Amino acid sequence: MAVPLFDTDTPLAPLRPAILERIADVVAGGRFVLGPEVQAFEAELAAYLGVGHVIGVGNGTDAITIALRALGVAPGDDVVVPSFTFYASAEAIVTAGARPVFCDVDAGTRNVTVETVHAAMTPRTTAILAVDLFGLPAPVAALRELGVPVLEDAAQAAGARHQGRMAGALGDVATFSFYPSKNLGAFGDGGAIATDDAEVAALARALRFHGSRDKQTFEYIGYNSRLDELQAAILRVLLPELDGWCDGRRAGARAYLDAGLGDHVGVPAVPEGSDPAWHLYVVTHPRADAVLEALAAVGVQARGYYRRPLHRQPAMAPYVGDLGPLPVTDELGATNIALPISPVFTADQAREVVTAIAGAA
Ligand SMILES: Cc1ncc(COP(=O)(O)O)c(C=O)c1O
Repeated sequence: MAVPLFDTDTPLAPLRPAILERIADVVAGGRFVLGPEVQAFEAELAAYLGVGHVIGVGNGTDAITIALRALGVAPGDDVVVPSFTFYASAEAIVTAGARPVFCDVDAGTRNVTVETVHAAMTPRTTAILAVDLFGLPAPVAALRELGVPVLEDAAQAAGARHQGRMAGALGDVATFSFYPSKNLGAFGDGGAIATDDAEVAALARALRFHGSRDKQTFEYIGYNSRLDELQAAILRVLLPELDGWCDGRRAGARAYLDAGLGDHVGVPAVPEGSDPAWHLYVVTHPRADAVLEALAAVGVQARGYYRRPLHRQPAMAPYVGDLGPLPVTDELGATNIALPISPVFTADQAREVVTAIAGAA
């Protein structure tokens, strides 16, 4: 039996009639940009997260750039960011005019720690970008003690919780991506910024519309980056499903452990009080590529993520300078394997994957 890496179709199938109806409503209404659907989705996501303000934007990358600028990050500033993450986390810092300063991560959680971030801070550091990698919340509360604002990149963590608070409500500001494969995925690009800070929210709202608060006076060089009405209408159908989908992902992760996955590969460490959303379930093995080949041979889809970490990417060379070694990042880059996971991942599938790994590892 083949096991796919993702399954976005099965959870969406029962929702298809409701989604098509909402799409038809938007088409009939004739409002496509910054209308009632975006406004309603922003309010619904804010209520779900327990934050004061949500601003819908074009994608998760723009969300980071706009959120950094709304925090006051400017040219000449440094922003600490993990090297072991998707490229957009660092790219968006450069777009905001600042310099990404790469830090290492913890081998168990794969997230930044207070120590790794602190080691990377410079006198010019004006923000920390903490990624909730693979859906596991970063230690954002502890990072906020370091004295500069923390942006929580929750692109992979919609539906995760940390000590009862939602991922996306942990930092001074947080960002989401609604790219279709994400836990809360639209039918195209989309993103959002979440914050309790009314000033940051107002500035982000202006920046997404060309730096204008009233569409008459243009105060800043901004962006044309809006979540569109069709995507917002679709996301409004999906948001009420998110908790159930994340429960399914968590059940899938438990099924892996029950099937003995930890006997064969390194499994993610989950801190006390953390409820990850498991956008990806990522394990480690010293011969990761050989394991991947063996899994592919029996129809189990799996892949390595961030094999070349950001501090080794050509476009980041100007920002790396005399950066010291990031040993955990390099090790994780070489040894990680993302295994199949989805809201509808079954215990049978988990056993099949573990059997395949046991044969390969
Ligand atoms: C950690 C992280 N940050 C940022 C992004 C960027 O989001 P988008 O693709 O919507 O621009 C992604 C995903 O693509 C991501 O995984």
